[in-house]
Amino acid sequence: MHAELESLTTEALALVAAASDQAALDQARIDLLGKKGRLTALSAGMRTVPPGEKAAVGAKLNEARTVISEALEARQRGLTAAADAAAVAGVDVTLPGRPQWQGSLHPLAQMQDRAVDILRRMGFALADGPEVETEWHCFDALNTPADHPARNEQDTFYFESGHLLRTHTSSVQVRTMEKADPPVRIIAPGSAFRRDEIDSTHLSAFTQLEGLYVAPDVSLADLKGTLEQFFQALLGPKTRTRFRPHFFPFTEPSYEVDVELHLTGQPTRWVEIAGCGMVDPAVFTALCAKRGDRVYDPDTITGFAFGMGLERLAMILWGIPDIRLLIENDARFLRQFA
Ligand code: DAH
Repeated sequence: MHAELESLTTEALALVAAASDQAALDQARIDLLGKKGRLTALSAGMRTVPPGEKAAVGAKLNEARTVISEALEARQRGLTAAADAAAVAGVDVTLPGRPQWQGSLHPLAQMQDRAVDILRRMGFALADGPEVETEWHCFDALNTPADHPARNEQDTFYFESGHLLRTHTSSVQVRTMEKADPPVRIIAPGSAFRRDEIDSTHLSAFTQLEGLYVAPDVSLADLKGTLEQFFQALLGPKTRTRFRPHFFPFTEPSYEVDVELHLTGQPTRWVEIAGCGMVDPAVFTALCAKRGDRVYDPDTITGFAFGMGLERLAMILWGIPDIRLLIENDARFLRQFA
């Protein structure tokens, strides 16, 4: 038994040492220590060993098992280390790492955040309304009659149900006043849709920011002061604003607002930037009829409203020459705002 154990151990060590890959080593383990392995077979011989020698032979068997197991483990460590080394062979660990791309807010989102931030500090609360609107909320309640060009099928996206994609965020004015009693001081940023040809200044889906302040004694001076403050906070303290008479169905009087831009490297110039005016009494009358109360009685209530395109604001603020850059998601463009 002793001799057999010794020669088995010697052979086993040679076998393990010769195992040049994982498959060979696994096979050696099975052949040596497996259920039908050689050491297991030798152990079975214990039965025939005379009782007096059992302890000594048993000890030898254990010793052989330990030696073989350790050899297998050592070889396993060697193979694993070699495989690890092969996996990184040719990799230059001294090269600088590739930095993970860091995301950032889209310029339009940044623009919206800035505008909302300023107006919230001025006391406006955020309001919301659906993009799929009724004609009443988008047009009728805003004193826009059925024959107004904005309601033309060629200008607006209609659904068979009679709903439409809102052509402006002014519908949120109506949505808000339908539910809330005055005073109301809200802003509503959101998408608007028109059947416009897409070009360098038009998109068929774009973003607006609506504002509305309704209370008993709101004046034109309040409107002018609010927008002047807003544009100075947004575009710089030197920014001057100009109110040009205009027409909107839902305000009377109505204005277009121009701002004078002082952009580095460019001559100062005036650009049109927003629409605004005093809420038309007809809007309040429509709300009284809908609500069935006199809370928005046009004889006692007043208000101002304003609306502007956020893409246009972003283009002006950052000198973006083409509105389509804002929807193409070209990382070379977007990265400049990271
Ligand atoms: N809704 C107008 C548009 O889409 C913008 C606008 C003009 C909004 C005057 C207003 C306003 O609230 O008072 O062109």
